[in-house]
Amino acid sequence: MPDAPTTPLTGTVVRGAGRGRGLGFPTANIAPDPGTPVPPPAIYSGWLARRATGTVHRATISIGTNPTFCDTSEIHTEVYCHDTSGEVGDLYGERVDLWFVARIRDTERFASVDELLLAAREDVRRSESLLDSEHGRHVLAALS
Ligand SMILES: Cc1cc2nc3c(=O)[nH]c(=O)nc-3n(C[C@H](O)[C@H](O)[C@H](O)COP(=O)(O)O)c2cc1C
Repeated sequence: MPDAPTTPLTGTVVRGAGRGRGLGFPTANIAPDPGTPVPPPAIYSGWLARRATGTVHRATISIGTNPTFCDTSEIHTEVYCHDTSGEVGDLYGERVDLWFVARIRDTERFASVDELLLAAREDVRRSESLLDSEHGRHVLAALS
């Protein structure tokens, strides 16, 4: 699959700005380990594997500066898990591996939060079918 790295990003879940929960898109913010490959800013589909439990979650990943909110030049790695109740607080401090399946789109600076939310919902729909594709299942099979 083009545009998505084949090696995992490894890191630790840390606290983000806390905005995602209010938007209905709670994300786990990942601090990448030094030296781990971080792909270029974009929205990706992938699998999040929790080292502590061995569980794997369906994920849509945002890598970028969150330009809609203009509050930082720092690159954030944020993961929305489709198959959890939305409560990511219990992941804080956990070691995780992110396996990328496909690149979905460029990060955009949206004129409003509503536009960002529309795009993010569409990203999750596309991510769901990418994860269920032959390539998505192949990536999953390789990590378990
Ligand atoms: C599926 C998805 C797509 C996203 N796309 C964008 C985007 O195109 N532009 C942007 O500025 N932020 C994007 N974001 C990041 C949000 O701005 C970010 O998750 C939100 O500000 C919450 O940040 P926090 O968890 O640090 O509070 C996306 C997030 C997700 C989960």
